[in-house]
Amino acid sequence: VDEIQVGLLGCGTVGSGVYKVLHKNEESITNKAGAKLSVKQVLVKDKDEELAVDVPDEELTEDFTDILNDDEIEIVVELIGGVNPAREFVLQSLKNGKSVITANKELIAKHGEEILLTAEENNVDFYFEASVGGGIPIIKPLKSSLAGNKITKILGIVNGTTNYILTKMDEEGAEFDSVLKQAQELGYAEADPTSDIEGCDAAYKLAILSSIGFESRIDIDKVYVEGITGITKEDISYAREFDYKIKLLAIGKEEEDGVEVRVHPTLIPEDHPLANVNDVFNAIFIEGDAIGETMFYGPGAGQMPTGSAVVGDIIEVARNIKLGAQGRLPCTCFENKKVKEPSEVETR
Ligand code: HSE
Repeated sequence: VDEIQVGLLGCGTVGSGVYKVLHKNEESITNKAGAKLSVKQVLVKDKDEELAVDVPDEELTEDFTDILNDDEIEIVVELIGGVNPAREFVLQSLKNGKSVITANKELIAKHGEEILLTAEENNVDFYFEASVGGGIPIIKPLKSSLAGNKITKILGIVNGTTNYILTKMDEEGAEFDSVLKQAQELGYAEADPTSDIEGCDAAYKLAILSSIGFESRIDIDKVYVEGITGITKEDISYAREFDYKIKLLAIGKEEEDGVEVRVHPTLIPEDHPLANVNDVFNAIFIEGDAIGETMFYGPGAGQMPTGSAVVGDIIEVARNIKLGAQGRLPCTCFENKKVKEPSEVETR
């Protein structure tokens, strides 16, 4: 069996999940990829720091160039998060002929165009299934399975941390700060949870989904963003009295006067499927002109679900490598449609 070497950048919640999934299901993954997928090097900040998974010493490095300059490593998996140094690491890897997989929504929302162009120029793959919806398959379905549709609407609960907080405030009358702490302990929240609770994380994800769905580049600055910090237990129980749930919703719509993208707490009637998406679960509801309505549902954050999405991408890239078909998926064929400014958007 052939062997394909992988370099992991980062070994936090997601990185350790990827490492675990690759080892746990090694035999099945080898069969499906058509090659043994071996993690050769794992980039960490400090080799002495304790990791959430056992990684042998010889696989650990503190120096990115050990991975960048290793010609045997064909796939780089970026799981550091944030823009710096992730952007440089991703661009340099692509330029060195390595395919890249990431779960980094902020990086794609802010620098997706530059990265996709660089991948195309270098005939390598850039995959990012885990960037939206944790373990839920959504990027590939939107890019491929639903490609025959004109997408008209995307409604998503795309942040696990805030959905967990709103659910616990509703069901247990819990206090915001204590449930946020739980979400952090469970590995759902970002390193800086401000991005979750202020709605930025959901906005990054909406920009990614809308760019693909509406075939246009949706700049992150066009997303109207309001988080959940102003929501009280009283708001939630009033909503309940009138048979509504409060959810942090990401909304993308294509209308005659342009594309509209917004993230804010929304009242959802209790009988709508999105009202029943609880805890860390996410759901993305999509309307297309051929399919009608469809909804994708599953665990939206956490070590193993997100690891599942990343490993799916690694397997797909490995298959492309075996077929010599890397960089063949056209990814930059977008128009620039009119996108409304956040100030033009009606939020209620
Ligand atoms: N902090 C994110 C969330 C992680 O809570 O959804 C998954 O992207």
